[in-house]
Amino acid sequence: KSIGIIIGGKSVEHEVSIISGLQVLDNIDKDIYEPMIIYIQKDGKWYIGKSLHDISNYKAKKFEGAYEVLPGFKDGKLVLYPHPELKQGLFGKKYETAEVEVVFPAVHGTNVEDGALHGMFQMNNVACAFGSVLSSSVGMDKVVMKQVFQSNNLPVVDYTWFYRSSYEGEKEEIIERIEKIGYPLIVKPANLGSSIGISKAKNKEELLVSVEVAMAYDRKIIVEKCIENVREINCAVMGYENDLTASLCEEPVGWKEFLTYEDKYVNKKKDASESKRRIPADIPDEITESIKKYAKESFKSVDCCGNARIDFLYDGNNIYVNEINTIPGSIAFYLWEGMGINFTDLITKIIEFAEV
Ligand code: DAL
Ligand code: MG
Repeated sequence: KSIGIIIGGKSVEHEVSIISGLQVLDNIDKDIYEPMIIYIQKDGKWYIGKSLHDISNYKAKKFEGAYEVLPGFKDGKLVLYPHPELKQGLFGKKYETAEVEVVFPAVHGTNVEDGALHGMFQMNNVACAFGSVLSSSVGMDKVVMKQVFQSNNLPVVDYTWFYRSSYEGEKEEIIERIEKIGYPLIVKPANLGSSIGISKAKNKEELLVSVEVAMAYDRKIIVEKCIENVREINCAVMGYENDLTASLCEEPVGWKEFLTYEDKYVNKKKDASESKRRIPADIPDEITESIKKYAKESFKSVDCCGNARIDFLYDGNNIYVNEINTIPGSIAFYLWEGMGINFTDLITKIIEFAEV
């Protein structure tokens, strides 16, 4: 069965996606599947070709042999046609049209993880892993995500939000509303991942700067109560509708205040999963059980499918659902290993869910 592993995209998490996708390529069961990397460049152009199948090529920016394609659809398959402006080689054989039966989007962030890609495949009857248009778009907007969690009685931290376009005219009211939550605060663009554009504000002066930073990235801003002495605990969930399994819990360690992009990915070698983490997290058993329960409910509340990672905050007393990542970095394989599901089996399960 041919599998198209999509990587890259018009997203600030482009680089993270390349790591996730090449990990999937390395670990996918090649006895069952014929994987192919499909690279979406930052400008939105699509490429295929052997040279994409190697992480060192990305570092060296060498893509010889890769060629631009246009996505098309036929009989429930994704068809990648060589771009009509490409000059064909001798006998017109240089560029081949490729077909893909199931899409495995190893992508993170806006334009790719937010339902846009899922919608394109859904319209054209192509099986695509990781949930639906709805789960992806709800999972991308931190405000709507929190609203859905709240209405399902899941605990979330205090927050408020506003549009960038309202800020100029209603600055005083917005700041007043934000300050009611009480410092310290965390200011985030509503639609980004990997902690990009996020900062902490301990007073009004810092708040004004943080808001400007976040507004440089997004037109919608969320401001949350920053919980003191908080630990982040993550848990993945696999399945569909009511048939869900929660993974082990992990605690990312060695960060301050909030996990930055650098904590998550820079200073890491070529593996996004090499960030420092404690698995299983060193938390009381009853907290682990609550987190697993909340993780499944969060997954269900946004109608997710396949495998997602839910991030929690834990201050020693209270647990808060922080967010769901509908296509988690490194596909959260490290959370399943301790449960006897290796990366290869995890990918197989995710592909099987895509086909239901
Ligand atoms: N959005 C990144 C990749 C994650 O949290 O998994
Ligand atoms: Mg996160």
